[in-house]
Amino acid sequence: MLKTHNCGELRAEHAGKVVTLAGWVNTRRDQGGVVFIDLRDRWGITQVVVNQENSAQAHEVAEKLRNEYVAQVRGEVRLRPEGTRNSGLDTGDIELVATEIVLLNPSKTPPFYINQDSKVDETARMKYRYLDLRRQRMQRNIVLRHKVVKFIRDYLDEQGFVEVETPILFKTTPEGARDFLVPSRLNPGSFYALPQSPQQLKQLLMVAGYERYFQIARCFRDEDLRGDRQPEFTQLDLEMSFVERDDIMALIEALMIDIVEKVAGKTPMFKPFPRIRYEDAMEKYGSDKPDLRYDLAAVDVSDIAGKSGFPVFVNNVAEGKPVKVLRAPGLGKRSGTALRKLAEELETMARGAGAKGLAWVTLPEDESGEMKGPIGKYFTVDQVLALVERTEAQGGDMLLFISDKRETVWAVTDVLRQHIARELGLNDPEKLAFGWIIDFPMFYWNEDEKRWDPSQHMFTMPLPEDLPLLDTDPGKARGSQYDLACNGYEVAGGSIRIASREIQEKIFPLIGQTPENAREQFGHMLEAFEYGVPPHGGIASGIDRLVMVLAGEPNIREVIAFPKTQAGADIMAGAPSPAEQKQLDELYIRTTVPDPEK
Ligand code: AMO
Ligand code: AMP
Repeated sequence: MLKTHNCGELRAEHAGKVVTLAGWVNTRRDQGGVVFIDLRDRWGITQVVVNQENSAQAHEVAEKLRNEYVAQVRGEVRLRPEGTRNSGLDTGDIELVATEIVLLNPSKTPPFYINQDSKVDETARMKYRYLDLRRQRMQRNIVLRHKVVKFIRDYLDEQGFVEVETPILFKTTPEGARDFLVPSRLNPGSFYALPQSPQQLKQLLMVAGYERYFQIARCFRDEDLRGDRQPEFTQLDLEMSFVERDDIMALIEALMIDIVEKVAGKTPMFKPFPRIRYEDAMEKYGSDKPDLRYDLAAVDVSDIAGKSGFPVFVNNVAEGKPVKVLRAPGLGKRSGTALRKLAEELETMARGAGAKGLAWVTLPEDESGEMKGPIGKYFTVDQVLALVERTEAQGGDMLLFISDKRETVWAVTDVLRQHIARELGLNDPEKLAFGWIIDFPMFYWNEDEKRWDPSQHMFTMPLPEDLPLLDTDPGKARGSQYDLACNGYEVAGGSIRIASREIQEKIFPLIGQTPENAREQFGHMLEAFEYGVPPHGGIASGIDRLVMVLAGEPNIREVIAFPKTQAGADIMAGAPSPAEQKQLDELYIRTTVPDPEK
């Protein structure tokens, strides 16, 4: 080893020892005869003192050092003089008095600061990812990720799970995104699909008798990217046999609580995690992955608003469209321009989510005040009192009215609720609010294709009591699906699976699969299920998203070493890139790239 200790390790008790450190120059201060160098490695920073009188050699090298140069320092540990100790640094009690310094490698001036957590242009971060990853905050995130994954492996191993690797070159999988295809040279004209998840394979492992399976699995989905989505990401994928919904939820809940408390050193806001029915989540929060750090639930006021003098509400209610109110505590206290600006922002967001407008009123703080907002005049005093009572509003609150068809009201509720929370500072990243969403509908109606789409995937078992609905009213059938939300992100999702060919064959026609089609794509599953399939179920948790919320980061890229940009590119290495003609010929592939000019 070129070092005897790391840069975060030395303490007062090491005083008098001769040690060798190696790392990067974090900072260098030249005070004439004495040079101070903060030497940094993965574990921390140690102050090195280079005194010309002690060692002319060390001093000569130190003069040449610049930020991010790589150096090896040999010297004696000594207590820092009284008054110069730094309690903000783990190694702040000591310093290393250099007797010898070796410059291992110089560095060009980096394109951004590595020694401070300053805001850096995203493109520069991606292009020089190896420098970005050298920054303390990224190192903290990547190490946290390692610890989470290690904890999961140990935890599940202790509970009798086995990790089984499943192929990356496989066949189309049913998670509903577009596949990434890989051409096969040995089978001209044929393609593998990269797995969107190991869903089928883990179910086949249940048929094979591996009752408790898990895998830290790489998944690939060709879909539009967002802050919490990458085209390749990592799941904790898990499947169990002879279980019911509660067994899997209990296992994951206990695991998540342990990860939060023992690995991230935080405390979940709720223990046990609340369980919310899909229907209730949508009605209250407008989302199936609500941010539960705050309540701010929408309240139905259709009966009151339908009798008001505001024609939009009266007509909507007559057509069966609800009127709902979101109460923004205290935001009505903003005066004049600030209130108008807020109302405009909220209305723009509401329109973005599909609303035709956003009516609002503010409640006066005391008797001398008056209501503000475009529709106050349409309500009688009694109606206002009824609204106040229904929404538990207080003086100074702002009430936002959302009225449209149900799905639009949900979408608007979701965006407004999140914005109110931001305005009120209720989205503290230090808080972690987990909650289960259960009783999802089995299917959503696909108007374009005139068929049902599975809300999770085609292997999800309906709730036992809803089985008859598959024949009579599939839209009402609920699945045995469970999702885990944390701080507004879906961090896990799973279900009990269909373990009966008879039920599986009822699902295919509903989702527009002909028997031939189903057999061609999933024949291996259907056949396997003829050989003694145990009742089984499972779940998958997005490791990237989970670590993102644990680290309090706003974007999934902050916890992935080498992520893709929003356009699906790696701008450091330049991927994707055109292939050589020779490679394409070997694969029997001809490309027709559209002319960007046209
Ligand atoms: P699902 O599609 O819900 O279920 O995925 C499970 C979890 O994976 C994470 N996730 C993602 N993370 C980052 N980028 C993405 N593009 C992305 N897509 C999904 C989410 C999500 O909750 N096979 C089923 C699981 C099962 O039924 O057992 C599945 O993949 O955190
Ligand atoms: P108007 O009388 O058309 O000026 O509308 C009065 C207020 O009601 C404005 O603030 C509109 O943005 C709002 N509004 C209009 N339609 C709706 C609707 N469907 N839901 C909620 N607010 C609406």
